[in-house]
Amino acid sequence: MESKQAWILCVDDEAINVRLLEAILEPQGYKVAGAASGPEALELLQALPIDLVFLDVMMPSMNGFEVCRRIKEDERLRDIPVVMITVLSDREDRILGIEAGADDYLVKPFDRAEVLARVRMLLKVKQLKDMLNSSYKTILNLTDFARQLVQTFDPLNFDLMDKINNMVEQIIRQDDEMPGRPQTLLIYAPADSGKNNWHRYEMVACTLSRTPLAFDPRSDFYSRKGGEIFFYNQGELAARAGEKNVCLDKLEALGIPVYNLVLYLSDTLCVLALNYGREVTRYDASVIENLVTQTLFLKSIAGQISETEEAFTYTVHALARASEVNDEDTGNHILRVGEYCALIAGKLGLSDKFISIIRLQALMHDVGKIHIPPDILKKPGKFSDQEFVQVKQHPLYGAKILGSHSRLTMAAEIAMAHHERWDGGGYPNRLAGEQIPLPARLMNLADQYDALRNARVYKPAFTHAAACGIIIEGDGRTMPSHFDPQVLAVFKENASEFEAIYERLKG
Ligand SMILES: [Fe+2]
Ligand SMILES: [Fe+2]
Repeated sequence: MESKQAWILCVDDEAINVRLLEAILEPQGYKVAGAASGPEALELLQALPIDLVFLDVMMPSMNGFEVCRRIKEDERLRDIPVVMITVLSDREDRILGIEAGADDYLVKPFDRAEVLARVRMLLKVKQLKDMLNSSYKTILNLTDFARQLVQTFDPLNFDLMDKINNMVEQIIRQDDEMPGRPQTLLIYAPADSGKNNWHRYEMVACTLSRTPLAFDPRSDFYSRKGGEIFFYNQGELAARAGEKNVCLDKLEALGIPVYNLVLYLSDTLCVLALNYGREVTRYDASVIENLVTQTLFLKSIAGQISETEEAFTYTVHALARASEVNDEDTGNHILRVGEYCALIAGKLGLSDKFISIIRLQALMHDVGKIHIPPDILKKPGKFSDQEFVQVKQHPLYGAKILGSHSRLTMAAEIAMAHHERWDGGGYPNRLAGEQIPLPARLMNLADQYDALRNARVYKPAFTHAAACGIIIEGDGRTMPSHFDPQVLAVFKENASEFEAIYERLKG
């Protein structure tokens, strides 16, 4: 079918030879273009989708060998078969023709049967070369798509629709120079709402357009084949006309008469690729299957990683709650300090990653209190010196419990240093200034503010204004010199946001 519509260029300065070839080729359904010179032939090769060239050797201005060499030097033209036209006695011409890159030669006078046999054979070779090139390009695209998927893979923010859009861009026909690609894609991805979530994708003015599809084509195909991947061409679709495919009728009513299609059907993702500019094959089905499988594989990995991350978060909360068991009831203290720390970190311009880690890991700052006897922690009066020595051990215990795992580095730093003071008067190591890890400096102020807002067995709850006064002015026990000046400045400027967090999470 393809070869009948092939374009054949016949180049000869003697018009009679061009007409002779026309007379042989045109009745067989080939389209023939004639050129009387080499330069004219090269122009036509740029203008028309030529599939085969007949080329006379002896021509004025540019001989056939030179034309052949130029064709074979041009990356876009070199796969077009070139047949040199020579006379029987010209053995040397034939050798020169082969050296110039010609694919075959034809001897004058023309023998009709021989011309047609060579044309069929060379067009078949051209077709196979085109398929090979197209497959190579597809493999490059697939590799590129896989690389992009991996490079941009962010499992905790995985957006299936976003990945589907990327996938569609890989599959769909971008312009008329890519007739090997489908023109329309119909895609189903389950929506959270559970509603029909079919979309129609097409390129409109070089932009990918996505519009909802009002019906669900699946049932029509499921009943026939039971899912998975399959493909149809026009002939097979026509043969099934008597069976009445409602889906195809509905698509036709939408202005999409279907010539051929590839389908991938599953519960998680369905793809209908419609109207490739040629017959579809098992190869096209494999390409679609490959792209869908890669996308679904990453979705599955993202789901598993999110689940593991949720379990990690849950375990951190559980450990933080366990650390409070022996302590006074301070309500949501652990959640609030995480939020204050995240607030300060944001105002200091620290990274989103730092903010999300400190929000969670600040919760475990007092995990070492598990080792301190409850009667000391819940004592209604002042600690004796000996008791205070014991209480001051909780940062060391906490750091030991949290250990050295890379995922818990910040938690261990906070546990160890959250009672250190900027002026060097804290415990357990009397660190000062920037010797104190930054997360612990944030935590120290967050912990102080929240402790002031809560009633403790040895003190009443302070109002927001009173707590601010104590932190900013000092009261002898708590002093502004205890805090990292940058952290204190953030607190001063954003005190109302601390109050808002306290109000939101009190109780
Ligand atoms: Fe503490
Ligand atoms: Fe605390």
